[in-house]
Amino acid sequence: MAILDIVKVPDTVLRRKARKVTDFGKDFQLLVSNMIDTMRDAPGVGLAAPQVAVSERLVVVEYADDEDEENEETPPAAKKLYVLVNPEIVVKSDEMVLGIEGCLSVPDLVGEVDRHERITVKALNRHGQPIKIKAEGWLARIFQHEIDHIEGILYTDRTDKVWKPRDDEEIPLD
Ligand code: NI
Repeated sequence: MAILDIVKVPDTVLRRKARKVTDFGKDFQLLVSNMIDTMRDAPGVGLAAPQVAVSERLVVVEYADDEDEENEETPPAAKKLYVLVNPEIVVKSDEMVLGIEGCLSVPDLVGEVDRHERITVKALNRHGQPIKIKAEGWLARIFQHEIDHIEGILYTDRTDKVWKPRDDEEIPLD
């Protein structure tokens, strides 16, 4: 296991359309494990392979669903780990929602981005088996941010409203 270097703008690997994963062998398994470690070390809620200079369609996400965040009687949800290989958004809600995003590859900035409130993602798991996930809210936002990464798109392409976060402004990074 290893912590990988996270590449930052203006590295061109962030702008490339990543290639499909077809080999789920040992090297790929090591990459997945290293990306999970790197995401946790950052810390971040998601990481896409181009962010570690690997132009492949692989993203990892770890996030606790916060639907009940405002209800203090509900214990905090457990974090859930997602490994998505060759992900595709197959359903998108018409409803859009604004939220604030930051990115591990775009240091010292956050921005307000419009995303689909609900999506369905089809992907393969780390062993190449098909999976389908319905996501809404922040989880849907994280998936859209990560899937943009494998298309060479950064959140800053989707908004003019970016700013330097205040010290007390804690934005999850991915
Ligand atoms: Ni990012």
